[in-house]
Amino acid sequence: SRRVKAVDLARFKAEGRKIISLTAYHAHTASILDEHCDFILVGDSLGMVMHGMESTLPVTLEMMIVQAQAVMRGTSKALVVVDMPFGSYEASREQAFMSAVRVLKETGAGAIKMEGGAAFAETVAFLTQRGVPVMGHIGLTPQSVNTMGGFRVQGHGPDAERRLLEDARAISQAGAFAIVLEGIVEPVARAIAASPDVTAATIGIGASPECDGQILVLEDMLGLSDRVPKFVKRFGSLRAHISEAVEQYAEEVRAGRFPASEHTYPPR
Ligand code: KIV
Ligand code: NA
Repeated sequence: SRRVKAVDLARFKAEGRKIISLTAYHAHTASILDEHCDFILVGDSLGMVMHGMESTLPVTLEMMIVQAQAVMRGTSKALVVVDMPFGSYEASREQAFMSAVRVLKETGAGAIKMEGGAAFAETVAFLTQRGVPVMGHIGLTPQSVNTMGGFRVQGHGPDAERRLLEDARAISQAGAFAIVLEGIVEPVARAIAASPDVTAATIGIGASPECDGQILVLEDMLGLSDRVPKFVKRFGSLRAHISEAVEQYAEEVRAGRFPASEHTYPPR
């Protein structure tokens, strides 16, 4: 296929070409993103965005596979990366491999993403050595909400800075082609992106413009989500747009103006 490949992202980084990415869970939205994004992430944020869950923890591998299939059907150019949900990869390298194989076989996506730092380097190496391209995700990792005690910006203080740099190095050297840096203070994000030991492309979300690329949750940047973190810029106001359209529809149905004759099948 003519799709962007996981290995292309490291080249974009080397060439200093910004990597563009957003999330998608549906065929329609994915087909729009396909014209503009290097990669599309089928994020486990779908639990909160599509299903109103309070965290990403209840999301299952089956849910990820169904939406990844939809995104693959809607796209032909962008690399599609699929999140490994909580509980599908942490127990062992073998568990991670079997889950990743299901995702790649059943969806045709080009890569998987998993949360975790140095502790998951062995898993990243195990998968990449067996043909599974891995995107890492460090810093604010939403699947760890119960152990972190909430969603907080990461990297304050020398200890935290050293730990994050070590996480990025470990994941990159284990073979990850890219790493999402989420909710990380600017100086630490810059240190990671500039480190010669981090050849993986750095993809920022709330992690400064120093990263090699950026990602946002589509519904957040479109202004469809009702609450968004500080790092989100609303590039659209879809919530107001949809509300106005639905209000007008309700008015016209009540007034008998919709459906009009052009929306009605006449007799033969
Ligand atoms: O699940 C998701 O949407 C993500 C991105 C925010 C990076 O992991
Ligand atoms: Na995610």
